[in-house]
Amino acid sequence: MELVDKIGVIYWSYKESTEIMAEKISNGIDEAGAKAILVNVVDFDINSIDSYYKIALGCPAMEGEALEKSEFEPFFKKISDHLKGKKVALFGSYGWDETEWMQKWENQVKDLGAILFDKGLTIHGEPDKESRHRCVDFGKAFAEF
Ligand SMILES: Cc1cc2nc3c(=O)[nH]c(=O)nc-3n(C[C@H](O)[C@H](O)[C@H](O)COP(=O)(O)O)c2cc1C
Repeated sequence: MELVDKIGVIYWSYKESTEIMAEKISNGIDEAGAKAILVNVVDFDINSIDSYYKIALGCPAMEGEALEKSEFEPFFKKISDHLKGKKVALFGSYGWDETEWMQKWENQVKDLGAILFDKGLTIHGEPDKESRHRCVDFGKAFAEF
C-alpha cells in the first residue's frame, strides 16, 4: 500500500455516535479510492502515526466543552509533535454546544502546524440518515483534499 493512499480515522466514542461518524467517514474515504484505516484510539499504536499521510480525528464534546480527558486527550498530546504539515480532519458528536469544543480543537490543530481540512464536522447526538450522508461526503472530500 502506498503511504499516499493510507488515511487514518482514529476516534474515541463513549456511546457510539462518534463511532458511527468514523465508520461513515471511512466509507467515504474508501469510495473516493483511498484506503481508510479505522481505529479506536484505545487500540491505536502511537508509533504508527507517521505511516499515515492524512488523519481524521474524532472525539465528542465532553466535560467543559473539551476533548475526553482519560484516553483521547493523552493520545492527542502524544501525536501533537507529529502533526506539522499533515492534513488533518476533525469530527465528533455533541450534546448541546457544537461550537466551543470544536473551535478550540481546530485552533489547537492549526497552532501545531497541521493543515486543517475544512471545518470540523459536528453532529448533534446520534447521526440520522442525512447526517450519515454528510459523514460519507466529508470522508470523500477529505480523501480528495
Ligand atoms: C460526561 C459527559 C460530558 C459531556 N459534556 C458535553 C459538553 O461539554 N458539551 C456538549 O455539547 N455535550 C457534552 N456531552 C454530550 C456528548 O457530547 C454527546 O452525548 C455525544 O453524542 C456523545 O458522543 P458519543 O456517542 O460518540 O460518545 C457530554 C456527555 C457526557 C457523557
